[in-house]
Amino acid sequence: MSIRETVQGETSVSETEIKKQVRPLYDETEIASRVEELAKEIGRTFEGDFMIVGVLKGCFVFVADLIRQFNRNGMPLEVEFIRLSSYGRDKESSGDVKLLSDLPEDIAGKQVLLVDDIVDTGLSLDYAVEHILKKGASQVKTCVLLDKPSRRANDFKADFIGFSIDDVFVVGYGIDYAGQYRSLPYIGIVD
Ligand code: IMP
Ligand code: MG
Repeated sequence: MSIRETVQGETSVSETEIKKQVRPLYDETEIASRVEELAKEIGRTFEGDFMIVGVLKGCFVFVADLIRQFNRNGMPLEVEFIRLSSYGRDKESSGDVKLLSDLPEDIAGKQVLLVDDIVDTGLSLDYAVEHILKKGASQVKTCVLLDKPSRRANDFKADFIGFSIDDVFVVGYGIDYAGQYRSLPYIGIVD
């Protein structure tokens, strides 16, 4: 059974199916050491206080690891989230970004680190940066765990990038395919 059939059939995916169908790309140790480096690099770049705004849902594991790393580095940051329309059950972006859930707090005058799991076409983060600036943030810097530069539909460039990858579809570490695989502790490729 392929992952596509499994997911569309709403059946849960067994360990064996995952091992057969998700090819490991970055393991837990590789991710953890990159998150540690990123937190240092980001901490050095901002002057003064900043807050994190995560883009749900894909970012939640990455943000959880990042904030704890910032805390270890003596930076107990505030965190908020926005939620943007997802890919639904597809592997391709619909190209139409919608804001499903907005920030509860006023962020006027704040410096923001906007965090997402992946930048692919760049449409979501381009939209999110504009949105945060419209709300009055004094500065927005962007951080993604994974960048797929070959897929870009605009000239979006993230300020901080965990890993740059080819045009492959990935899952795990919070990243899903049709709602599945978010809980995998590593990142793998789905063919
Ligand atoms: P963009 O607007 O095309 O840049 O898409 C960004 C969002 O699409 C990411 O934040 C992910 O949530 C999702 N996405 C892009 N590539 C993948 C992938 O390989 N696996 C799972 N989700 C993806
Ligand atoms: Mg995302």
